[in-house]
Amino acid sequence: MDDLKRLRSLDSAKWTKYGPDVLPAWVADMDFDQAPPIKAAINAVLERGDLGYNFAALHPLAETWLSWVERRHGVRLTDDTDEIWTFTGALHALELVMELHTEPGDGIVVFSPIYHPFRHAIHDSGRQMVDVPLGAQSTLDAERLDAACDEQTKMVLFSQPHNPAGRVFTTEELQAFATVAEERDLLVISDEVWADLVHAPHQHLPLALADERLRERTITLGSASKAFNVAGLSCALAHVGSATVRNRLNALSHHVHGRPSSLSAAGTMAAWTESEGWLSDTMLTLTARRDHLAARLAAEVPEVGFDPPEATYLAWLDLTRTSLGDDPAKTLLDHAGVAIDPGLQFGDQAAGWARLNFATTEQILDEILDRIIGAIKNGVTP
Ligand SMILES: Cc1ncc(COP(=O)(O)O)c(C=O)c1O
Repeated sequence: MDDLKRLRSLDSAKWTKYGPDVLPAWVADMDFDQAPPIKAAINAVLERGDLGYNFAALHPLAETWLSWVERRHGVRLTDDTDEIWTFTGALHALELVMELHTEPGDGIVVFSPIYHPFRHAIHDSGRQMVDVPLGAQSTLDAERLDAACDEQTKMVLFSQPHNPAGRVFTTEELQAFATVAEERDLLVISDEVWADLVHAPHQHLPLALADERLRERTITLGSASKAFNVAGLSCALAHVGSATVRNRLNALSHHVHGRPSSLSAAGTMAAWTESEGWLSDTMLTLTARRDHLAARLAAEVPEVGFDPPEATYLAWLDLTRTSLGDDPAKTLLDHAGVAIDPGLQFGDQAAGWARLNFATTEQILDEILDRIIGAIKNGVTP
């Protein structure tokens, strides 16, 4: 297996955290090599020996991102690049804006199960998590949101498309959300780093543009990291619709914003200007993997609950009707040589669930599935 040899040679967390007997399907990196233009752009910087200060390298990013979003999703977030900031990651932007806009003790909404760093960010900064579970089929429930809010609730950490549920929320869901966000005067951070990995026929719509009432209360986060498999470049952009937050960001020293490297800028630019064909091919592959996964689970272990995601390469698996216990990820790591993410990481109600990353080769995915399905069929217990 040449692919496996290459992957085992990587220094990435995904491929080094566990031993050689374990197949990793946890953290959100893909097992695919990057698009050639991205590698060429980064190599060109290195070949020039161009690693001195290069503040200008970041300047074209804002307009390039706006044009990319417009080309991919048919809408333009703004015409004013002064409303855009560059950060060293989506979480950097999210945590900084949360710290700027709220106080310890304030309530911050998440729609759970939710990407676990959101939970940690709220907890570690002394804010209160307002946990609003998604409804059946992972739908947004605006009434539940309204009931969960009180006067201390200040902000929402939104994930669109949603990690780990893989939902692309519909315009109707987003508009119902907008009604509550306006009534409760909530600032919304819409983390859209998964926007470019949407399975046909679904379509991504930036939250800020789904409803006029959201435009000036939303901070939209975007990045090439997920779609182009370049999380290690550490580069994200934020469109800040709120003038209050813009003023607060402008009042900060530049160094608090951080500065992605010129290598990050070169790679990100090449992703958004030269790599769309690579992304289209990758998306077809991901949709095929998703469908293959769904078909095997349905045929071989129908007791596993799985709604194929509308976006992302993450499968949110309901393993509660198997023998694997409350922490099926641990049982599978201990007894089946597969590393997936524990459901409980994403929400207190997700005992018996787990998240599986299917962005890998068909051969590796089949080996992962053989191991998981084998464990379930053999009634493996914790
Ligand atoms: C929803 C979401 N936000 C943010 C991140 C991390 O982004 P960054 O590395 O740019 O902080 C991830 C990574 O998987 C993610 O899934």
